[in-house]
Amino acid sequence: MESKVIPSHVGFIMDGNGRWAKGKGMPRNYGHTKGANNVDLVVSKCFEKGIKVVSLYAFSTENWTRPKQEVDKILALLHKFLIKYTKKLITNQVRLVISGDLNVLPEELAVLCREKMEITKNFEGKILNIALNYGGRQEILMAVNNLLKQGKTEITEEDFMRELYTANLPDIDLIVRTSGEQRLSNFFPYQSVYAELYFTNAYWPDFNEEELQKALDWYAERNRRFGGV
Ligand code: FPP
Repeated sequence: MESKVIPSHVGFIMDGNGRWAKGKGMPRNYGHTKGANNVDLVVSKCFEKGIKVVSLYAFSTENWTRPKQEVDKILALLHKFLIKYTKKLITNQVRLVISGDLNVLPEELAVLCREKMEITKNFEGKILNIALNYGGRQEILMAVNNLLKQGKTEITEEDFMRELYTANLPDIDLIVRTSGEQRLSNFFPYQSVYAELYFTNAYWPDFNEEELQKALDWYAERNRRFGGV
């Protein structure tokens, strides 16, 4: 069954890579590799189904506390993804946005992020927004500090939203978190105040088209119910 009401903007908290690997008697980093390999499929299916903006939580400001070899692995997977995925972004006319503080990332990765955003910046229909070294509180403070630097003494919502990493992106309609955890973990708090929250027990490496469709069908039901009130 196709969903009747398609959300414009869906955010994914890609959780459970470590537990997925552990369940298979494999090291955590194997789970991250499989998780990264799953990104293309889920993002492609989202765009096919008419979702315009896909946000992914790839690396949070809190993730630096993980063992160095795990941090290095996740950053290396992102590096590889950005190199491999560029052709597809251009063919499919997808704009890439990276939300997060790039200044403290390894220089090569930061350069790559800026370059890929630059070369896709004029695409409009589809947007892939990757949260990388992202934290919602950090983003809000950054916006406030930028406004203070501009000498503003009173601001509108529009002024504030222009300073966020997600400037000009629509609010998040649906957040999907995998692996059974029911938390938002600092994921786009300002942009998701009206979002529907969907939690599934599936681990991220197992999240596939069928799981995505279940989330979209659930969303359509929620929306229909609210529409009737
Ligand atoms: C959460 O699982 C996952 C992460 C912190 C990393 C997500 C990163 C990727 C999927 C790879 C790179 C991303 C892209 C966009 C190519 P966890 O390790 O917290 O799992 P656990 O809760 O089972 O330990």
